[in-house]
Amino acid sequence: MFRRSLILLIGFWIGSKFFSEAINVTNSRYRQNYHIIAPTGWLNDPNGLSYFNGNYHVFFQYDPTSSNGGGPKQWGHVTSTDLVNWKYTQPTIALAPDQSYDVGGVWTGSAVNNNGELTAIYTGLHNNTGEQLVNIATSTDGVTFTKYSGNPVVPTQPIDGTNQFRDPKVWKYNGVWYMVVGNQSKKNHGRTVLYQSDDLRQWTYLGPLADEPDNRVGSMWECPNFFYINGKHVLFMGTDVERDGDHFANQGLNVYFIGDFNYETKVFSHAVDFYELDNGHDFYAAQMFQDPKNRTILFAWMNSFGTNFEEMQDGWAHTLTVPRQLRLSSDGSRVQMIPVDELTLLRGTEYINSPIEIEGHDLRLYYDKQTGKLVLERTKDVRQVDMGSIMQLNLRIFLDQSSIEVFANDGNVTMSSRYYKDPIPTITLFAEYGVANVEFQAFRLNN
Ligand code: FRU
Repeated sequence: MFRRSLILLIGFWIGSKFFSEAINVTNSRYRQNYHIIAPTGWLNDPNGLSYFNGNYHVFFQYDPTSSNGGGPKQWGHVTSTDLVNWKYTQPTIALAPDQSYDVGGVWTGSAVNNNGELTAIYTGLHNNTGEQLVNIATSTDGVTFTKYSGNPVVPTQPIDGTNQFRDPKVWKYNGVWYMVVGNQSKKNHGRTVLYQSDDLRQWTYLGPLADEPDNRVGSMWECPNFFYINGKHVLFMGTDVERDGDHFANQGLNVYFIGDFNYETKVFSHAVDFYELDNGHDFYAAQMFQDPKNRTILFAWMNSFGTNFEEMQDGWAHTLTVPRQLRLSSDGSRVQMIPVDELTLLRGTEYINSPIEIEGHDLRLYYDKQTGKLVLERTKDVRQVDMGSIMQLNLRIFLDQSSIEVFANDGNVTMSSRYYKDPIPTITLFAEYGVANVEFQAFRLNN
């Protein structure tokens, strides 16, 4: 009897711990129509971006039990055949925190196709020790995952760093697996460390790939991504940089370095300067992957810290960006982002052929001819970017129920921001001061 009640008790404890109730969405006024959001509750970083068995896979940091991210994180999961129409997989939770090495949270990571096995490489937060270590889980159907019995596959943090050690991003080069992980040096500055493996299970530490001894690029680098594009190597990560005029205005942002990587010496020689990936109010924890069409595609979490996200009172929080294709500017000095071509599939009725009246000025996007800056103003909170000397301004603007994404001059500048207006305000597009030639085209987008 005692035994049975003990088992029942343990069962109840496990049940309440791992299957706590999902929160309800109480109001859908800010729910996004064509962006990836959580069914209910909290979403943060995009994880495990991949193409496997005919589907695009996007996993995301997920806490279905709260809209403030208070519970341990899991991996939520959506798939799509075209990067536009997404559906939640069943079950929607791909990886739950149910092992000693990840019970504090199944944190950010990546996914690769390893000979027909979709392998997730993720951060496990050990609740008791607070350690962040690398684990893997595999799937043959792309939906159900089995955690590897030999986890954690990186059982200790690098000896020359602190225990801030997370967000493994894996790729293959010449038959060898490589992995970058976000870390902090013993002097408390952000850095990215590099590993190598033949089988995704045994990893060798190769040392720092990049770090910044003087702390000018933040005290911790989260979600590093390292890839080859148009003849160069790019490293981007999430961090915190002291504001410098128009630059680094958000608390939490993605910055990048461009350089050359030598696989023999494992040295990444990069330019001293670093830049923001996006100049809007909300953009963080971006992740990229290479798709079968050889495109480099990125999703990010539309977030900045210290911002009030109004949907949190409605039982959910946060959205990912639309998928963007990356490339380098023709002089090789900047990363550009353009919306993936497939997004035109969303186009419904074309409904604009003349400017319409605007109601209120909560959100204003304009090009300031005096300063040469593109300005996005959200309730007086300004983000602006110097566009350089331009003869023409070309804007693609994606509006959803509570977000705006602006792609200026073919991805030279992008600005991503959340905004709140219920109902969505009328939109006005206009040009003044004798602009020679203006063309507008607008579409209602399908859900
Ligand atoms: C970035 C981040 C990652 C971590 C995850 C936890 O937003 O802090 O470094 O793995 O979120 O949810």
